[in-house]
Amino acid sequence: MNIHPSVPGPETAAADLRQYDEAALIDLLEKTEQKHGFIPRDLSEEVTRLLSVKLERLRRIQGKLDSTIRRDVQQHVSHWREEEGNLIMILHAIQNQHGYVPREVAMELSRELGVPLARIYEVITFYHYFKLQPPGAHAITVCNGTACYLKGSRDLINELSSQLGIAEGQTTADRMIHLDTVRCIGCCGMAPAVVVDGKTCGHVKTTEIAGHIASIKHLKESVA
Ligand code: FES
Repeated sequence: MNIHPSVPGPETAAADLRQYDEAALIDLLEKTEQKHGFIPRDLSEEVTRLLSVKLERLRRIQGKLDSTIRRDVQQHVSHWREEEGNLIMILHAIQNQHGYVPREVAMELSRELGVPLARIYEVITFYHYFKLQPPGAHAITVCNGTACYLKGSRDLINELSSQLGIAEGQTTADRMIHLDTVRCIGCCGMAPAVVVDGKTCGHVKTTEIAGHIASIKHLKESVA
């Protein structure tokens, strides 16, 4: 949380500044200089000390995250190492673990397999299944297979895109709703079909789209 401390006078001892975050500490130095024309030595020394403590802590957290990512990727790679086409299987395992393929994990995978990162992204973007962003809390998936297409699935996708303000394959800025399309979900008799959070809805009309979105938003509000 960003705390905005009031500017202390030059006589202020480097009091307890530990509650301030990094941005607030730097802000404090800038405002002190603007107000008094100089920064008391006590204050600048204390801020410098606190910033290096915070930086060291951040480095330690980052180091732990890096080693967790490395360990997970090594496990996936060793599991699939001997299999043909193992890159896809490993990417599936990564997506199952995180819900998408985080960039830092893709980078670690590139190092571990000795495969260029560009090649890994080629595969991720070729297969519609793989996601590069964390999934939304709720999913609306429109079937765009032949039967649904002929019954107007494109209109449903356009309506959803316009009401949610996102394109297919994207998630709303509040990460609440992810919009996607699939090829035939095996319910052609219900065309056009839409799957909302795993529930298949058939013969969907564009006029019903607002109701589906509202029901998700209502869920969000009742959980909040
Ligand atoms: S084409 Fe949509 S369910 Fe088959």
